[in-house]
Amino acid sequence: MYLTILKWRLKDNHFLKKLYLRRLSLCVLCSLILSSCFSSHEPEEEISAASDESIKYSNNSYDSLRPLPQSLKLDAKRVVLGKILFHDTRLSKDNSTSCASCHSLEKGGTDNLARSIGINGAIGSINAPTVLNSGFNFVQFWDGRAVTLEEQVASPIHNMTEMGSNWQEIIKKLSSDKQLTRKFRHAYIGGLTSENIQDAIASYERALITPNSPFDKFLRGDLSAMNDEALEGYHLFKDYGCDSCHQGMNIGGNMYQRLGVMDDYFRDRGNVTNEDYGRFNVTGLESDKYKFKVPSLRNVALTAPYFHDGSAKTLHDAVTVMTRYQLGKPVNGKDINLLVAFLEGLTGELEASLK
Ligand code: HEC
Ligand code: HEC
Repeated sequence: MYLTILKWRLKDNHFLKKLYLRRLSLCVLCSLILSSCFSSHEPEEEISAASDESIKYSNNSYDSLRPLPQSLKLDAKRVVLGKILFHDTRLSKDNSTSCASCHSLEKGGTDNLARSIGINGAIGSINAPTVLNSGFNFVQFWDGRAVTLEEQVASPIHNMTEMGSNWQEIIKKLSSDKQLTRKFRHAYIGGLTSENIQDAIASYERALITPNSPFDKFLRGDLSAMNDEALEGYHLFKDYGCDSCHQGMNIGGNMYQRLGVMDDYFRDRGNVTNEDYGRFNVTGLESDKYKFKVPSLRNVALTAPYFHDGSAKTLHDAVTVMTRYQLGKPVNGKDINLLVAFLEGLTGELEASLK
């Protein structure tokens, strides 16, 4: 086993130098700049169990993938309050929809729909990403229009196809709940306010981390945590340069990239919508057209369908699209399956009390 790994590692270096540094040097440059700008978003955590072997993996010069922290220091009162609010349908106009309706923790933090369904059966215009580990993303939403989790909360609350409400209505409803207002007073000096609702929900979302996936265990030194296929897939993930975009602690979530770097995805799919313009909708820059936040691949096996348009039904489909439009090279079926096996090894564990 160890020998195979060594062999792969030598091959990795060779590949990287020869192919990816050139082809995707821009991505790497962007990511370096971004990760240095946003490194403060990722808490510094000592991974005490790291063995020499794992240090070779997680600290080597080119491996940008890192394990999640196993716990974070957060204010427990606010996290508990945030959990209640996240599941509270009173945050929607007709008391039908909570955050969890579209970000179910039983479904990997999503709704497993191509397009979400909000109040009055309204169908949204873009796929719902997971809330799991969202605190590690450098910005929120596919187009990054919210910088923080706190800022993000206001958007679904006011969106007429999601919760269709407003702060005034929500505060009116919640203030008649004695138990809840007491919890607010215990957690915040200011009690029940829109800022504190946002802060509590964001605190809860920050707590939604999923450490201890087979891959995290592997990075922390348990070399048998991933099966052989997942391990081979991991090396292919780096050989093919997937980690030039999906990188860092969240294996994504730290840069914008165009969908269709090597071929025209939108021409082939057809029916371009406003949502397909991605980051352009925020900046108005032509160069930002079709750019999206590179999604985290953590727990991706749980969150089908895939892409901002929900067009890929399976992981196999999504990886095939990636190889064609992001790498611009044919990848055989065996390698696609191995890459999928690696992605399946990214499913972590959410603490039961948080669900
Ligand atoms: C009707 C379905 C629906 C409801 C209800 C909903 N969301 Fe979302 N959520 C979405 C969709 C769709 C997106 C993607 C929107 C976009 O990127 O433009 C999203 C994006 C997000 C993101 C960004 C994740 C990322 O990686 O970019 C977070 C965080 C989030 N929602 C949290 C919440 C919270 C908190 C609530 C409750 C206050 C909530 N959502 C209510 C559908 C929903
Ligand atoms: C040039 C950057 C880039 C490269 C290289 C790249 N990706 Fe992606 N990946 C993206 C972007 C951007 C998206 C989001 C596209 C969208 O939804 O519009 C994405 C989405 C995905 C998704 C869907 C995730 C979700 O939640 O919807 C999977 C799975 C994925 N990539 C796997 C891979 C694999 C495996 C490789 C290597 C074979 C790879 N990617 C290479 C940029 C890249």
